Amino acid sequence: MAEKKVALTTLGCKVNQYESAALEELFRRRGYRVVDFDSPADVYIINTCTVTRMGDRKSRQLIRRASRTNPNAVVAVTGCYAQTAPDEVLEIEGVDLVVGAGHRAGIVDLVEGVSKGHQVKAVGEINRCRQFEELPGEAHQGRVRAFLKIQEGCENYCTYCIIPYARGPLRSRAPENVLAGVRSLVESGFKEVVLTGIHTGAYGREKQDGFNLVRLLESLASVPGLARLRLSSLEPNDITNDLLDLMAAGPPFCRHLHIPLQSGDDYILKKMKRHYDTDFFRSLLANIRNKIPEVGITTDIMVGFPGEADEHFRHACAFVKEMQFSALHVFKYSPRRGTPAAGFPDQVDPRVKEKRSRELIAIGHALSRIFAARYLDKTVSVLVEQPVVTMSKEQSVEVFEGMTDNYMRVFFPAQYNWRGKLADVKINALSGTGLEGRIIYS
Ligand code: 5AD
Repeated sequence: MAEKKVALTTLGCKVNQYESAALEELFRRRGYRVVDFDSPADVYIINTCTVTRMGDRKSRQLIRRASRTNPNAVVAVTGCYAQTAPDEVLEIEGVDLVVGAGHRAGIVDLVEGVSKGHQVKAVGEINRCRQFEELPGEAHQGRVRAFLKIQEGCENYCTYCIIPYARGPLRSRAPENVLAGVRSLVESGFKEVVLTGIHTGAYGREKQDGFNLVRLLESLASVPGLARLRLSSLEPNDITNDLLDLMAAGPPFCRHLHIPLQSGDDYILKKMKRHYDTDFFRSLLANIRNKIPEVGITTDIMVGFPGEADEHFRHACAFVKEMQFSALHVFKYSPRRGTPAAGFPDQVDPRVKEKRSRELIAIGHALSRIFAARYLDKTVSVLVEQPVVTMSKEQSVEVFEGMTDNYMRVFFPAQYNWRGKLADVKINALSGTGLEGRIIYS
């Protein structure tokens, strides 16, 4: 019998990327070959996102593309859009199977049970999920930096956000499994592990045994061969002095924090139910910078939340500049069905959202350049990811790309293949929002 082929595509966050790698591994273990999403396959998996309406729309486009590429293939849809709107997904032409959050581990059996023309919905009630769903896939992400999911679910219920309904209650991965996961990634050659979750800072909270994120990080710090350990998003309220003191100790901890601000205006923060104000955030950042010099602090910020008048947006811009983030992820508020804010009056005109978004993105670029400029004429340590352009074929000079621990992108030319290595690079110019320089051989 011919080898079966599976093709996956992933939208959205780092957790989704991790989960897709895990799903690929499940298929590999059952003898499937993983192929490109654009090529003919027997099975297509679309791992969707629903954080904004754009996520839904892109998810639908990819689903339709899969069934066009091979109308006889099994098309299976999973991820947050599938979990929150399974019936809407089933109505899309070509969909055979919808797999909810608690059913991912059994996806291969579900796919193999499909007979064309009979749709299957394997979606449970997410509120009932109390167990962290173990998935494999630590070993096969094929890059220098790997994501590792340590936590699932969120119970914050910010008024704009649909994710608690897609991901369910807090569930933490058992510490020994996290440790085994990190070890296995390091053994397969990864130098950097990024710990991800839906509410990562709440790691361990529901177990109430005191084994929190800081304890987990302490237990991971000494894994031999782990050059870098990075944390994905952390809520402002979860950043404790214990955590900062641990991070201040240096490698493997990266001097980088992604702390979603969402708005820089106190009235809007309150309506979002964010449970902090700008004063709190300001002192938090001062404390972080005091403990971890050179830390890169990045953020998510939303424009056009209901009731955001020009005045609030001005406050937000001023506050963002004052906080000197090294990068911004700007989101246009998107009303999500079932969330309180979708029903708030004073929804903002899409054109205003667009204009504010552009303005804030420009501020973000300027801030990134200010942060990067501090490193002109300095030497930084870069974890090299991949060559991006070939400068000279004859002399085989390529431009490599990598990241510093504080999350700046660095480009440098080299002949030797630096992929997966730490390189010392002397910075001589800004490049977009990143840096470029020459390698220093010691
Ligand atoms: N509309 C726009 N952006 C949103 N986010 C969450 N919900 C929404 C929404 N309804 C953004 C937040 C979050 C990021 C992952 O997605 O900024 O930090």
